[in-house]
Order: sequence, then C-alpha cells, then structure tokens
Amino acid sequence: MGGRAWTVPSLAKRLRVSRRGLEILCRNLASARLLRKRGLLYRSGRFAGTALNARHKAFRGAYLDLLRGQWDDWSCLTDSVRSGRPVEHEAPDDPKYRRQFSWAMHQRSLEVAPQVAAQVNLKGVKTLLDLGGGPGTYALAFLAKNPDLTATVCDRAPALEVAKEIAAPLKHGRRLSYLPLDFMSRKIPGRYDVIWYSNVLHIYSPAENQRLFRKLASVLAPGGRLIIQDAFLLDREGLYPQEASLFAVTMLLFTEGGNTYTASETVRWLHEAGYAKVRRITLRKGTEDWEGGLIEARL
Ligand SMILES: C[S@@+](CC[C@H](N)C(=O)[O-])C[C@H]1O[C@@H](n2cnc3c(N)ncnc32)[C@H](O)[C@@H]1O
Repeated sequence: MGGRAWTVPSLAKRLRVSRRGLEILCRNLASARLLRKRGLLYRSGRFAGTALNARHKAFRGAYLDLLRGQWDDWSCLTDSVRSGRPVEHEAPDDPKYRRQFSWAMHQRSLEVAPQVAAQVNLKGVKTLLDLGGGPGTYALAFLAKNPDLTATVCDRAPALEVAKEIAAPLKHGRRLSYLPLDFMSRKIPGRYDVIWYSNVLHIYSPAENQRLFRKLASVLAPGGRLIIQDAFLLDREGLYPQEASLFAVTMLLFTEGGNTYTASETVRWLHEAGYAKVRRITLRKGTEDWEGGLIEARL
C-alpha cells in the first residue's frame, strides 16, 4: 500500500484481486489496527508501514518468511501431539535455512536486545560468550553498552556468516569474535567471565540442558556467571505467562526434545549442576524479550 491511502476498488484494481475478498481482508486488518480506516479510505498503520513494508528499511522479511515457512507445518500439530515428534523439517545444519533463520532472529530481537543489555550489569566483565548467539544481536548490544568488553559468538557456521555481516559496519563489532561449533557435542574452548545463553534452553530437553550446565561450569572463569534468557513459566502450576506455554507448542512441532520450562525447575537444575548462587533478574515491564526475565547463576 506504500504511503498512500486507497479505496478498496482502487486497490483491488491495482492488485488485480477480488473487491469482496480485499474489502473483508482490509476491514479485518483495520480492526487488528494494522491498517487505518477513515471513511472509504485505508492506509498502513505505523507497524504495517515499516516492519511489514518490503520497501522500508525496517522490513522484517526474514521473520515473515520464517512464519510463512511454518504455515503448513501447523496443520500437522495433531500428529506431533500423538507422536511427541516434530514435523519433518529442514535439518538445523542446512546452510540456507540457518542463514534465513539467523536473519529472522536478528529482526526479532533487534529492538529488544539493547533494552535488555542496558539492564544487565557487566561492570568489570572482560569476556562474554554468546552461546547459540546466532546473528550476534545480543553480543553486539552488550558490546555497544560496555566499551571494555570483548565477546565471542558461538553457533553453526552459516549463522556466524550472518553475524559477521551485521557486525561489519559497526565500530563495536570489531570486538566480536566467532566460534563455529556444535556446543552440545563438542568441547567448548576458552574461559569466559559471562556466558549468555539466550533463547536456546527451550530447544533442548531437560537432560540435555542439565548436561550442558555441568559442562559450562568448566568454561566459566573463576567468579564467572551463566545468564539464561528464555520463555520461563512463572506460576506454581507452570501455565503462565500464556505466551510461554504457547511457545512450547512451537517447540513440539519443530524440535526433538524442546519445551518451555518453569523458572523454578531451571533454578533447581543449576543448583544440581553445582552453581551456588542462583537468582532471577526481573527486567522492566515492556523491555524484556520474554516476560520471565533472566536467571543468573554463579559457581
Ligand atoms: C532461537 S536462536 C537464538 C539466537 C539468540 N541467542 C537470541 O536470543 O536471539 C537459537 C540459536 O542456537 C543455535 N544452536 C542451537 N543448538 C546449537 C548447537 N548445538 N551448536 C551451535 N549452535 C546451536 C542455533 O543455530 C540458533 O542460532
């Protein structure tokens, strides 16, 4: 729709689609506040005119492609519920898929990462490992905020190619290094003051995460911290926030053993893995990646 206002007949003519179909679609998009309606005229709302506008620099096309690519898979949900198995999908190592997914992750967290980074105290921290950091959006946000910090983003090689492209024009991007590695099956080299484990917990089963927590203890420098960001469930029954429960359905469809977890069971796993001081960090409302905030663990 670009920047201008359209009547349904003029837009239908331009798009060569049915007036009836378009009228019902536009009305619904307006009721969802994606379009604005005044009389017979429709125009894009702010979000539609930027994030959903292929001609705008803020277009989130990769994230839309990711959702579009999952469209048919959702109709296999009954099979996944019955079998407990994911739908057939691209292998996580497929380079094309991984590249596209990494851009989608960047578009997803571009705005929230600096807000989260502003609330994590990294005073005195010299080295940070962004484990499963994908496009490096979080590592870059920490680097922008902390001039004495150097960071390493660890992920599969095609994800790191995207991270390099994003970091290249940024001055603080020079303090980012890259570690192509399957961190679950391989030894993780180096020692870090902070390990940032964001949006990866939900991909893996409880046993896999517990094993990883034990392994990470030897990757932390003395006094180091493991900080976890994920869609934690917060109530006693493990139902809410609803967004976190719903996200487990996505994990059922697309991962072998992933799920969303309660903050309290994650804290317990960390204690069992030998971390002594474990605490939740609550972020300011509206500035979090997920409502559940962060969990920080020290050895
Ligand atoms: C959902 S994305 C999260 C990206 C980023 N941490 C964030 O919070 O936006 C999960 C990332 O973990 C990476 N990942 C998952 N398992 C991995 C493994 N075993 N080895 C390397 N990377 C892995 C994926 O490639 C992907 O980039």
